Amino acid sequence: MNRICAALDVPDPAAARSLAAKLVGHVGVLKIGLELFVAHGRAAVEAVRDFRLPIFLDLKLHDIPQTVEAAARAAAGLGASFITAHASGGTAMISAARSALPRETKLLAVTLLTSLGDDDIAAMGFPADAVLRLARLALEAGAEGIVCSPHEVGLLRRELGAGPLLVVPGIRLAGMAKGDQRRTGTPREAIRAGADILVVGRPLRDAPDPAAAADAIVREMETG
Ligand code: C5P
Repeated sequence: MNRICAALDVPDPAAARSLAAKLVGHVGVLKIGLELFVAHGRAAVEAVRDFRLPIFLDLKLHDIPQTVEAAARAAAGLGASFITAHASGGTAMISAARSALPRETKLLAVTLLTSLGDDDIAAMGFPADAVLRLARLALEAGAEGIVCSPHEVGLLRRELGAGPLLVVPGIRLAGMAKGDQRRTGTPREAIRAGADILVVGRPLRDAPDPAAAADAIVREMETG
């Protein structure tokens, strides 16, 4: 299976379809995030459904349990294979999200955003082991997977074992621009540390040839 999840971070369904068309056969999952979903909702999902790749609806739900449960139910109705919620919403919120999803839809819990540096995390009052604590809480509450940065994936794999799906954004080949991401790593580092799926956005979207960029990431990963 191709472990790259392409983040379709583009403004409209036509652009998402055009990027996805270039990437089919070169990536394993298509991700629709907040930018596209807030602007276009269901049409964003429908624009890429017929590529027959699993769809990852990255809504990062975070609200009271009742609200998240209803939102997760609506998201599952769109046919997503993966849905995200923030682990920091707590046990009741994660289990409410899980209860609203069919078994075939995997709930992924976001720990701490990859755009936060260690200084931000400390300033927000989180302890040094916050990612591990959040991951454990979310798994105990029913999540099937965890979203974490390349910096924590090795620790999570060692501590949590082979069971949970570990999904890792903040992926950059050596020398690539980081943009707003801070806790980044290369595809090889993330895979060696135990990642199952790598989420890649700008390195594909902004490449002159997105398919060739995806193939380069797969090659780098395979040498891991
Ligand atoms: O462009 P880039 O490769 O940095 O995109 C990363 C993607 O992963 C974005 O769509 C972003 O919303 C998502 N993401 C993230 N950090 C998380 C969870 C999701 O960067 N913790």
